[in-house]
Amino acid sequence: MPVPKAELHLHIEGTLEPELAFALAARNGVELPYADTDALRHAYRFEDLQSFLNLYYELMAVLRTEADFADLADAYLARAAAQGVRHAEIFFDPQAHTARGVALGTVVEGLWRALGRSEETHGISTQLIMCFLRDESAESALETLRAAEPYLDRIVGVGLDSAEVGHPPAKFREVYEAAAALGLRRVAHAGEEGPPAYITEALDVLGVERVDHGLRCMEDPALVERLVRERVPLTLCPLSNVRLRTVGTLAEHPLPAMLDAGLLCTVNSDDPAYFGGYAGDNFDAVREALGLGEERLRELARNSFVASFLEHDEERRARYLAEVEAYDFR
Ligand code: HPA
Ligand code: ZN
Repeated sequence: MPVPKAELHLHIEGTLEPELAFALAARNGVELPYADTDALRHAYRFEDLQSFLNLYYELMAVLRTEADFADLADAYLARAAAQGVRHAEIFFDPQAHTARGVALGTVVEGLWRALGRSEETHGISTQLIMCFLRDESAESALETLRAAEPYLDRIVGVGLDSAEVGHPPAKFREVYEAAAALGLRRVAHAGEEGPPAYITEALDVLGVERVDHGLRCMEDPALVERLVRERVPLTLCPLSNVRLRTVGTLAEHPLPAMLDAGLLCTVNSDDPAYFGGYAGDNFDAVREALGLGEERLRELARNSFVASFLEHDEERRARYLAEVEAYDFR
């Protein structure tokens, strides 16, 4: 069994495997512009974040009913469980669905059919984080937050994703203030393609508690020092970084330097159906490409639970952490 870990950076829409995409397309009478699953897999060649996002949004057309979202989440949980995931904080993109005429309630209720019983079915505790699309307007984000109020017992926090460059965190100051007032946790993608200044802005203007990606902090030593001092977790996604060309090869990934600097790094899968692997695959990949030893791998697993939003259940966190310490890597 792989080392126990928490998945903290996972877009549920990014777990849509080609086989499920075609099955849902058939079920819903949706025409996909690909002959078959092989043809679709051939389209998984990305130049950058935007070229991935184009396909990611296109394939969402097959997600229409509560059952579709439940099947999507169940399929993810099964794969995650097999890779040692014990706790998952799962992103979803409400605006990508409401813009297509799929109601927010359909998305949340559908996901909840799977997540509400994930401990019994898959041995994974789960939480939902609602992301705003940063290339949409601040007004649209605020409307989305208001529309989500009936479902807030199922949503632990808010995040910010989609095309980063040109859409700095400060654009969403108001909606993050409103989210904080509702008691929601706050995270944001920053420093994936965008500059280190976006990381600082996410911390100072949006009050985020974790930074998603945050890779480009390494260009700013003062920022690294701050992230270390304030123990701000970074949710890194190594296979994603290679596929979206934010790093050249896995062997060049700054993860070892980031750990050496004392940053609270975690390893996650982002959009595993598109980027070549789930959480355990990302652990295996960095272990091999970067030669990480047992203590580094244990640190990454430990960090994932330290950085989890488990403040409501510290007993559970302690249990997970004990599993990590007891894990035998040989
Ligand atoms: N970055 C930004 N937005 C996203 C991503 C990502 O890696 N995956 C899904 N939406
Ligand atoms: Zn992401």
